[in-house]
Amino acid sequence: MVTTADTPDRSRAGKRILVVGASGFLGRSVVRSFSRAGYEVRGLVRDPAKGVRVQEDGGTPVVGDVLNVRSLEKAASGCFGAIHLAANPPSESDTVRVRVEGTRNILEAAGRRGVGRVVIGSGYWVYRGRPELIRENSPVDPRGESRINYDAERAGMEANSPGELDVLAVRPGMVYGNGSWFQDVATAIRSGKYRLVGDGRNRWSFVDRWDAGTAFRTVLESGKAGEVYNVVDGHPATLREFTDFVATELEVPPPVSMTLEAAVGEMGDAVAHHLAADRPTSNDKLSQLGWRARVSSYRDGIPDLLREMFPLDRRTRSGVGSAPVLRPVRR
Ligand SMILES: NC(=O)c1ccc[n+]([C@@H]2O[C@H](COP(=O)([O-])OP(=O)(O)OC[C@H]3O[C@@H](n4cnc5c(N)ncnc54)[C@H](OP(=O)(O)O)[C@@H]3O)[C@@H](O)[C@H]2O)c1
Repeated sequence: MVTTADTPDRSRAGKRILVVGASGFLGRSVVRSFSRAGYEVRGLVRDPAKGVRVQEDGGTPVVGDVLNVRSLEKAASGCFGAIHLAANPPSESDTVRVRVEGTRNILEAAGRRGVGRVVIGSGYWVYRGRPELIRENSPVDPRGESRINYDAERAGMEANSPGELDVLAVRPGMVYGNGSWFQDVATAIRSGKYRLVGDGRNRWSFVDRWDAGTAFRTVLESGKAGEVYNVVDGHPATLREFTDFVATELEVPPPVSMTLEAAVGEMGDAVAHHLAADRPTSNDKLSQLGWRARVSSYRDGIPDLLREMFPLDRRTRSGVGSAPVLRPVRR
């Protein structure tokens, strides 16, 4: 059901926002959501060539770096809000700088340029896994990459000054779309290489990539200063259900599993525990702001997504007696 309108709103015309990390997986969905809603969107890119992505999503690229405050100040000029989704620099050691120092830099630039609201992107991996529904005040247990996201949230909240500089944080669940982790998972399931960690009875919480974009917009527009919001579709599923569904759609056998111990040895403690954690997560707080997922469950979104990612190879399909071949396409 579509309840979050993309229809341009005249009251938003001329309202300018800055998206940092605009060429990334989540950044693109945010640029698209704001521009479709009638905002003027500036998308910060390090590489001018990636500005094309921002333009495709309806924004205006501005060249800069989250580690360079002057470039942020320039980009933030005239903006009423900013969103931090810069992440994953080529060198792993720079991740802390981009996420945490980057947060401080954006807040410094925001303060100087009179930007009133800043949203820090984080992730639901900060929560400790548990069988009960996870809400924003549930216990956290940030490890690995989620520790860095959590530190970025905290750096942001330290600067929260309601009414003057509102700082908010967003914790999306597993955002599925053409790219990021889902590209890797779908490709591995398709080639028979994916292995579940543990028995697969742990639940993950999902959200469609473009719905995540509208959620960031809802939080920037209507969220309360100093608050954190989960972004999930409200239909958690066990990892076994999810991966079996993907396998069925791809017409391949369901993936086998590996022990947690083996996974720790292969991918490290933080990632293995994240993958095996039970995180049924609530979106009640975000729903109270009026947000609704356009794609209410992965079961509705993934079939079309897989067709987009692995389009049928027509040459093979037309061959007598040969099965359709799905080829990966990455954006
Ligand atoms: N993907 C998910 O499912 C998901 C779910 C929950 C939370 N999150 C969190 O959301 C955040 C963004 O994730 P993502 O998947 O969108 O990452 P991504 O696709 O790797 O995008 C990261 C973006 O940051 C930019 N960037 C890197 N270093 C920068 C710098 N120094 N200055 C300015 N921009 C810089 C990158 O630009 P270049 O192309 O120039 O490197 C890219 O546009 C992360 O904190 C992640 O943990 C993601």
